[in-house]
Amino acid sequence: MKNICVLVSGGGTNLQALIDAQNCGEIKNGKIVGVISSKEGAYALERAKKAGIKTTVLPRKHFSDNLAYSEALLRVLDEYKADLIVYAGFMTILDGIVCDAYPYKMINVHPALIPSFCGKGFYGLKVHEAALEKGVKLTGATVHFVTSECDGGPIILQKAVEVLPDDTPETLQKRVMEQAEWKILPKAVSLFCEDKIKLKDGKAYVEA
Ligand code: GAR
Repeated sequence: MKNICVLVSGGGTNLQALIDAQNCGEIKNGKIVGVISSKEGAYALERAKKAGIKTTVLPRKHFSDNLAYSEALLRVLDEYKADLIVYAGFMTILDGIVCDAYPYKMINVHPALIPSFCGKGFYGLKVHEAALEKGVKLTGATVHFVTSECDGGPIILQKAVEVLPDDTPETLQKRVMEQAEWKILPKAVSLFCEDKIKLKDGKAYVEA
């Protein structure tokens, strides 16, 4: 059984999707052992507490720089004996020492079809604003391994979502979450815990 730690900063709807999937038995060979928030008062913490999951608040503003924050985070992850770390709306930039400590053991959900609308500055609603600005007709979500390159790690799962003519960033964000993020994130977590994701030549492959 793999120990899963979920990193959050906000509302935590993706965390909720993971909790619901766990309660339905959809996460095989894995258990959420801890939720770590970079923001005090994040609603994600309430969701974790309601589900009886341990929480740790590690506010970014209490640390002088990314390195000091990352060192503290590594200590917490070590205490939870994390085998898999899931970024679920985690908005804090970390030092490379975290990737080095957990190579291909960290996954992130991004609200677009990478390589579109990703990288530095593309997070949360900004991603959907950019998609509408460009006028794309399809967007979606991506789950990928976290590497030192922002949103650049091997892609595990993606799902496309239609953009509608009268969409606002908010309506598009909601549809992408409902139709894509909340489905592919729990699926990717289960696949990881079942050892069904293989890496070859810098790409991720899912075993049947
Ligand atoms: C989600 O849409 C997630 O994909 C996005 O932030 C939102 C968090 O919502 N993450 C990023 O933009 C990371 N680059 P949640 O707190 O309700 O899960």
